[in-house]
Amino acid sequence: MQITVNNCKLIDVCTIDEKDRGILSFFEVGKHIDFPVKRIYWIYNVGKNIKRGGHAHKNTIQVLFCLQGNINIYIDDGVNNMNIVLDKPNQGLLISPMIWHDMKGFSRDTIILVFASEHYDANDYIRNYDEFLKLAGKKE
Ligand code: TYD
Repeated sequence: MQITVNNCKLIDVCTIDEKDRGILSFFEVGKHIDFPVKRIYWIYNVGKNIKRGGHAHKNTIQVLFCLQGNINIYIDDGVNNMNIVLDKPNQGLLISPMIWHDMKGFSRDTIILVFASEHYDANDYIRNYDEFLKLAGKKE
């Protein structure tokens, strides 16, 4: 799938499928992901019809994996937007700074694993869409 939202991309990680022995997937920082990972978090046990996200980050780069179940991620750079379905444990979505994102369509068994470039900082969040557009230079 072609991603048309600024600097966001799908990352197909290295995967070793040994049939009955199972599948091993991995990425290496500096080889497949070019930012230092400072924080890892995961989201699970999300109820039906719940929407999460609803913000952009000023500086944080993130790569999201859906390890189990599926999820629909809306990404928006203030001009272009699209919906991405993540439903394979070996495909991640890189979300750049200054991308508005929402997550919905969780299944009860969905597990999201996220690798982030920065430590948690509440001041890195933009939670108002109009403010996001202004900071992104898309609105006066
Ligand atoms: P938030 O990023 O708003 O979750 P989502 O985007 O999935 O809706 O975070 C939810 C709460 O967890 C919020 O109070 C901040 C806190 N939090 C941390 O303390 N550390 C973290 O690394 C993250 C991602 C969130």
